[in-house]
Amino acid sequence: MFILIPAMPPIIQTYGLVKTFGNLVAVDHLDLAVPAGVMFGFLGPNGAGKTTTLKMLTGLMRPTAGTAVVAGYDVVRSPLEVKRRIGVVPENLGLYERLTADEYLELVGRLHRLDVATIARRRDRLLERLALADRRHDLAVDYSTGMKKKLALAAALLPNPPVLFLDEPFEGVDAVSARVIKDLLLSLVRQQNTTVFFSTHIMELVEKLCDEVAIIDHGRLIAQGNLDDLRRQAKAHGQASLEEVFLRLVRAEVEEGNHLDWL
Ligand SMILES: Nc1ncnc2c1ncn2[C@@H]1O[C@H](COP(=O)(O)OP(=O)(O)OP(=O)(O)O)[C@@H](O)[C@H]1O
Ligand SMILES: [Mg+2]
Repeated sequence: MFILIPAMPPIIQTYGLVKTFGNLVAVDHLDLAVPAGVMFGFLGPNGAGKTTTLKMLTGLMRPTAGTAVVAGYDVVRSPLEVKRRIGVVPENLGLYERLTADEYLELVGRLHRLDVATIARRRDRLLERLALADRRHDLAVDYSTGMKKKLALAAALLPNPPVLFLDEPFEGVDAVSARVIKDLLLSLVRQQNTTVFFSTHIMELVEKLCDEVAIIDHGRLIAQGNLDDLRRQAKAHGQASLEEVFLRLVRAEVEEGNHLDWL
């Protein structure tokens, strides 16, 4: 006897999502489907449209056309419902830098209507885990780039959202902090079934960390799926690594003869 288990609908889904800036098509009819509870890498070269897509998914930018549904809600029609269910570390971090880490996390907790005891407990644990505890009373404006990024991550995690969006979370972060962030994100995915959607241009990161990946170039989706499937495809095409697949897909032109002769 067969028992049909209905597939869970994707927790993030886009239908023909488009963003244009004048004549430039930054995101070109993007159809993404992200299952719940996975580490999802959104991979593409500089200018591919990653940040623009993330902005549309998190309500920071209105799509030109198409729709996107996050955690069951349309991002344009129900932006508040989406925001209640997501944590975001945007490109520019969006911190209030004239607040200390303590004050900022308290503000975020209160905006999410958490009670004072919960805010204090989660804040202490996050600051400890992200090695910011000894700087908690300093203004964010005086933090280093990596420290600001970790504070933004703490703020995104404080309300314990089911979906996390991170724009290049490992850029400007040292090796030790990168490891802490990776472990933290992996434990959220594995233990709490959180969905983590992060953008990067580094294939190696995706290979080490992700369950699923989408590759975008010139605003268009060029591959999407399970990492094991992509690995199998790579082998079938005689390519040793996913790095090669990525480079082939984005048609990177490594022209031997085109060297910069003044260097
Ligand atoms: N506000 C804007 N006005 C005009 N063009 C924009 C704007 N934002 C993005 N673009 C353009 O859209 C395209 C996609 O940019 P986007 O920032 O989404 O790329 P990205 O994949 O995040 O790149 P990176 O890896 O460099 O961060 C680029 O050509 C960029 O110049
Ligand atoms: Mg970007």
